[in-house]
Amino acid sequence: MKDLRAIILAAGKGTRMKSDVPKVLHPVCGKPLIDYVLDLCRVVGSLKICVVLGHQKEKIRSHLGSDFSIAVQKGLNGTADAIKSAEGYFRGYHGHVLVLCGDTPLLKKETIRDLLRKHKKSDAACTFLTAVVDDSRGYGRIIRSSLGKAAAIREERDATEFEKNIMEINVGVYCFKSKLLFQFVKEVQQNKSKNEYYLTDIVEIFVDRGFKVETLEAEDGREGLGVNSREDLARCETILRERILQNLMRQGVTIVDPKTTYIDADVKIGHDTVIRPFTVIENNVRLGKRCVIGPFTHLRPGTRIGDQVEIGNFAEVSRTQIGRQSIMKHFSFLGDAIVGSRVNIGAGVVTANYDGREKNRTFIADQAFIGSDSILVAPVKIGKRALTAAGCVVTKGTKVPEGSSIRGVPGKVYSKNSLSND
Ligand code: UD1
Ligand code: MG
Repeated sequence: MKDLRAIILAAGKGTRMKSDVPKVLHPVCGKPLIDYVLDLCRVVGSLKICVVLGHQKEKIRSHLGSDFSIAVQKGLNGTADAIKSAEGYFRGYHGHVLVLCGDTPLLKKETIRDLLRKHKKSDAACTFLTAVVDDSRGYGRIIRSSLGKAAAIREERDATEFEKNIMEINVGVYCFKSKLLFQFVKEVQQNKSKNEYYLTDIVEIFVDRGFKVETLEAEDGREGLGVNSREDLARCETILRERILQNLMRQGVTIVDPKTTYIDADVKIGHDTVIRPFTVIENNVRLGKRCVIGPFTHLRPGTRIGDQVEIGNFAEVSRTQIGRQSIMKHFSFLGDAIVGSRVNIGAGVVTANYDGREKNRTFIADQAFIGSDSILVAPVKIGKRALTAAGCVVTKGTKVPEGSSIRGVPGKVYSKNSLSND
């Protein structure tokens, strides 16, 4: 979009988190808070983004990489001050600016699209998002005129008892005409109780000067949740998890017990796969169709699982590929492995993938049979239709040829496997 750019505010200290990690890098459902807002800007129109950084800017900068423009806010003097520090990026630009906070991960793209549409149609100087919530503590309250028009945003510490009872809050998402934003943000006065410059004060300035200010109320009040504390983080996690599971179920995945199933934001699962209770699936996992996963399975990042795979109790899989129709049903661990199709991973199998210095890979070819309690000390290669006997230790560097077997501790290779032999 040519006439729309975005500013993401992420310079604040996040004091209430009581953390050494910058607030916007705290994950919800496996993904840092700020990534949700960045994704949003991408899906509503691949916007050019300027991220305002300040507190712990280097940590956030290295997370962001080089795809974004960065403005540095020196004094951390509030959200209006943050906007001023981004001004250079908008010199000579005449379009609109979408302002978002880096700590609001529950916003939906449909809502932002509706906000942008309303802003352009109404030709307002500013259109901002509000939400009606059950608990408005900590948020800016929306003050409306007798005609119902937004007149001001009142921050909690400046609100009267009456204003504190207002349940319509400021979400922290605004769309401005760029020129007016940068002209009038300079008129925001320092707030007396907190010594900060509040971006929210610009609403009253616009209204006083006769500029048009519009609002849009989010359909679901929970969308407006901003993360300021660990409790907020947990609340967001619950809401987002519910959304993720709902989406998967709508795509044809059976989630037997949503209450005990934890699936991160970036997970893809094919239809007719059944996720049984107490399963944890972390980010960057892909699962095929008609699989049965759980109970008590833990799938970690970088895992790719083909169709019709069964993974059962107390199985952990990390950075591993498993081919179609393979099974791994009882207490085992696969890490940094490439497993073919129709492989049997017996009970208690472990890939010893870490030698204290580096992670090593395990290759298990199609139709191999890995007997119970086998330990595969990586790097190892188990050939097609090969067998490892129960309790065997396959030592580092071993290659078990196609169709052969390995038995004992340390494992000794025999030319025939017992599947065809014994
Ligand atoms: C802010 C709004 C409040 C709204 C709420 C929604 C103001 C004054 N208040 O309050 O009306 O209901 O968000 O979640 O804007 N930041 C900077 N520089 C600063 C201060 C903050 O970049 O100097 C960034 C923070 O990193 C954060 C965002 O601005 O991403 C919001 O700051 P935060 O301190 O969380 O404001 P709230 O108290 O939540
Ligand atoms: Mg906040």
